[in-house]
Amino acid sequence: MTARPARTTVAIVGAGPAGLVLAHVLRRAGVGVTVHERLSRAALEGTARAGVLEHRVVAYLRALGLADRLTAEGERHGRCEISCLGERVEVDYGTLSGGARHWVYPQQSLVRDLVAAYEAAGGEIAFGSPVAEVAADGDGDGGVLLRTAAGARLRADYAVGCEGARGVVAAAFPGGAAGPGRRYPYDWLTVLARIDRPVQRVRYAVHADGFAGMMPRTADVGRFYLEVPPGELPGAWAPERIRAELARRLDLAGADPRPGELLETGVLRMRGQVADRIRHGRLLLAGDAAHTVTPSGAKGLNAAVGDAADLAGALLADLGGEPGALDGYQRRRLDAAWRTQEFSDRLLDLLHLPAGLPPGQRAFALRLRLERIHRIARPGPEAADFARAYAGAGELPLPAVWPPAQRTPVASGTTGR
Ligand code: FAD
Ligand code: PHB
Repeated sequence: MTARPARTTVAIVGAGPAGLVLAHVLRRAGVGVTVHERLSRAALEGTARAGVLEHRVVAYLRALGLADRLTAEGERHGRCEISCLGERVEVDYGTLSGGARHWVYPQQSLVRDLVAAYEAAGGEIAFGSPVAEVAADGDGDGGVLLRTAAGARLRADYAVGCEGARGVVAAAFPGGAAGPGRRYPYDWLTVLARIDRPVQRVRYAVHADGFAGMMPRTADVGRFYLEVPPGELPGAWAPERIRAELARRLDLAGADPRPGELLETGVLRMRGQVADRIRHGRLLLAGDAAHTVTPSGAKGLNAAVGDAADLAGALLADLGGEPGALDGYQRRRLDAAWRTQEFSDRLLDLLHLPAGLPPGQRAFALRLRLERIHRIARPGPEAADFARAYAGAGELPLPAVWPPAQRTPVASGTTGR
């Protein structure tokens, strides 16, 4: 007879920002949690992606005591620039939003801090341990069965897919969870480069030859983007060509940082998608597993933490017997995902010229965009709306009772309901 697999309350697949924040809150509230991560710890903590964090996300992490290093080493940004037709327009979104600003702090540093805090609190993450399959447990109480690639089996009351797009938890939804999506008619060449001085603020260039962006990360590393034709291969862009094109489209001059050594280049296939549903029984999705958003507007990481914050409260409520708590999570966060998607899409529309525009009509399209740029820079309801959405004004929900009563977290791998 084979031994019955260990049982936990919540099995979290993926230790990105969504999985780590969720694990942290649940564990602190005394819930039994297991966290499964495909990558090694070194690979997870070495992957550079986002770096611009919303006001409400940092406020939330602060309230949890998870932002000490972020606020000590990160920088606050409340202005960006959008250039078009030789004009550089400053958008003071920190003021226009009524005080909400971003924090700049690399995603890999945040992930490292979250891993460290989780472990310091006694939590364990199974690194280098991909989950291969998730299925309903046939035990009749609505539980879930997970199998790792190494063949280990685990039973859980809930499984949460925080594993990025096309993951194993979404695959366990009957018929899948994929909802409507859009493939944009361009891609972004993404570049991480050494710079000779820090990027002072996000700069967007709306240019006849395509969008370009320059984003802050650390004192000597910047993130750059170039619009390229859809399906472009990174090999088509030699380092010299990248540097020259960035300098031209971004109009780099004087005190502007200059990209030096290129540390990473890639092409991001630009697409957006929102799942049809993010809950099926005790299977749940959060973060990129629930929605893919382009980098435009810097929303992916922020939405992932937003999902985790809401789901933590909803799971605690469901465990406490509150009816409809998980449906509430699904409703609120799908609404939020569409708001995010609409914001990102609107910004993309501003930053790119329509595909296939004859050269004779580009000047007209550029001039219209300059008009829209002025509208979001000039104080008024439209600018305030843009600024609040851009900076992520407002709050994420802390669990109803926070900090939770000190309970000893249930050890991983045991029953904890
Ligand atoms: P992830 O961070 O993708 O984490 C998922 C984890 O699950 C991964 O560690 C993965 O290894 C693991 N995993 C997957 N499958 C399995 C499995 N079967 N078993 C176990 N583990 C598994 N967002 C912003 O907000 N601001 C930005 O400025 C920004 N810039 C970006 C720039 C680039 C170039 C890119 C690529 C993305 C950017 N994003 C940005 C998006 C942001 O990085 C993601 O939205 C964010 O990482 C989503 O977090 P997550 O926790 O949902 O998923
Ligand atoms: C980024 O930091 O990568 C970033 C910031 C703002 C954007 C897009 C990307 O609008």
